[in-house]
Amino acid sequence: MSITIEPMKFCHVDEVSEIEKAVYPTPWTKFAFINEIIDNGFAYYYVALNDKKVVGYAGIWVVLDEAHITTLAVSPQWQGKGIGKTLLQHVINEADSKGAVRMTLEVRVSNSKAQELYKKFGFVACGRRPNYYHDEDALIMWLEKLPVSKLI
Ligand SMILES: CC(C)(COP(=O)(O)OP(=O)(O)OC[C@H]1O[C@@H](n2cnc3c(N)ncnc32)[C@H](O)[C@@H]1OP(=O)(O)O)[C@@H](O)C(=O)NCCC(=O)NCCS
Repeated sequence: MSITIEPMKFCHVDEVSEIEKAVYPTPWTKFAFINEIIDNGFAYYYVALNDKKVVGYAGIWVVLDEAHITTLAVSPQWQGKGIGKTLLQHVINEADSKGAVRMTLEVRVSNSKAQELYKKFGFVACGRRPNYYHDEDALIMWLEKLPVSKLI
């Protein structure tokens, strides 16, 4: 396995969308990703590639000194191999290089796997957004001090 991380492009969106449908109960549409990578000047999206195949992706918005992780996902067959950590480290580095000093995200309260990953990088749960996902509350997590030293 040789994973490389690249900015997400239009040509990746079909594969991203297949992963999105496989991992999220309420997936974003292809149009939502296209809109993010083409029209949103605050958005930065990346894909993890193995031999040119998209195996994961992550996105952030950077507004002034704050970054918001909008999505992070790894294809089910590729989970548990460190790709989530690689993508998270990448978006933290990118946020840092774009001037962010803190980062935030929302995660389902039941998603302990993702919460463990975020905690590993220093994110701390700071509150809840009731019914954020319509069927479930979100935990709000913050990472207060960028840059964090490389963990992987
Ligand atoms: C969350 C997700 C991105 C993690 O990606 P991944 O490639 O499987 O994760 P990694 O292999 O890099 O593992 C990273 C850490 O996650 C945690 N983790 C991974 N699998 C886990 C499991 N089964 N149970 C608990 N924690 C787990 C561990 O802390 C692990 O670190 P370690 O290997 O040093 O113990 C992936 O599971 C996913 O796409 N889930 C569906 C989408 C999603 O929930 N995204 C987050 C939205 S906020």
